Amino acid sequence: MADCCTQRKKLCYCVLLCFLVAGITGGAIGIYKWRYTGLNRWHGKGSTPNFQKIIQERCDTYTQQIRPDSRSRDCQGITQAFMSAFISKDPCKATKEDYQPLIDLAYPTVPCGKAVFWSKTKELAREYAKGRGLLTLEDTLLGFLADGLSWCGEPGSSDLNYQSCPDWKKDCSTNYFSVFWEVLSERFAENACGTVQVVLNGSIENAFDKMSIFGRVEAHNLRSVVMLQAWLVHDPGKPPRDSCSGSSIKELESILNGRNVRFTCRDNLR
Ligand code: APR
Repeated sequence: MADCCTQRKKLCYCVLLCFLVAGITGGAIGIYKWRYTGLNRWHGKGSTPNFQKIIQERCDTYTQQIRPDSRSRDCQGITQAFMSAFISKDPCKATKEDYQPLIDLAYPTVPCGKAVFWSKTKELAREYAKGRGLLTLEDTLLGFLADGLSWCGEPGSSDLNYQSCPDWKKDCSTNYFSVFWEVLSERFAENACGTVQVVLNGSIENAFDKMSIFGRVEAHNLRSVVMLQAWLVHDPGKPPRDSCSGSSIKELESILNGRNVRFTCRDNLR
């Protein structure tokens, strides 16, 4: 009798243990799936809430109030082309071609001598441009629409992923956000003419960063009709860490020399 009880107890423990192991394994698999295949599997911030509405509203504001000369632009078509570029697609497989229909609807051009490029100085460059009647990429229609927003889709879904989007370094460089800025910047640079400016940050180690969009894309797409003036700005609260005679600016100069683009550099502007 006692023997039979011990046997039963053992069986109970065994069953309990099996349930416990199955529970833990199931939980771990669940967490793994949620973490790596769920909507929050990426390391970058998710899409901006109301992305489509913001794009549509910004387009109306730009074409009706900011640049009434672009009133004839089809904002519904532009919004549609923007959404179709990335919706339902693998967020790590963006190509320049995905954005071609959108770029065709609103090419980013500015008059000769008006373009201002920047790298790690966005707000400052915008202020600099505004004060002098010059224009950054964010003053063109598509730059204005996307300024400060983030976006990505999800395969098999017609919605955006609001939880997370791929990060350039941690997930993939061919994400829809980065490819958008690259292709738009490429067009912006290849259309620049006359004397154009770039505002660089002299308070960081490499004012010219060859991995930035200015370094990887824009500098390599300027035409020989262009003269580039670099302004190295220093943060008043920080010691200068780079200058016009530093190696990073020399690197920029050599890229431009190879393209027959004339270049000047001014230091120490606050
Ligand atoms: N809003 C949000 N993100 C932006 C914007 C914007 N208006 N413009 C660029 N980005 C993204 C890009 O992915 C870019 O790489 O933020 C990053 C800013 O990185 P920085 O190193 O500060 O600058 P850089 O990579 O050189 O890009 C800025 O490219 O967008 C063009 O004409 C623009 O000259 C400018 C340069």
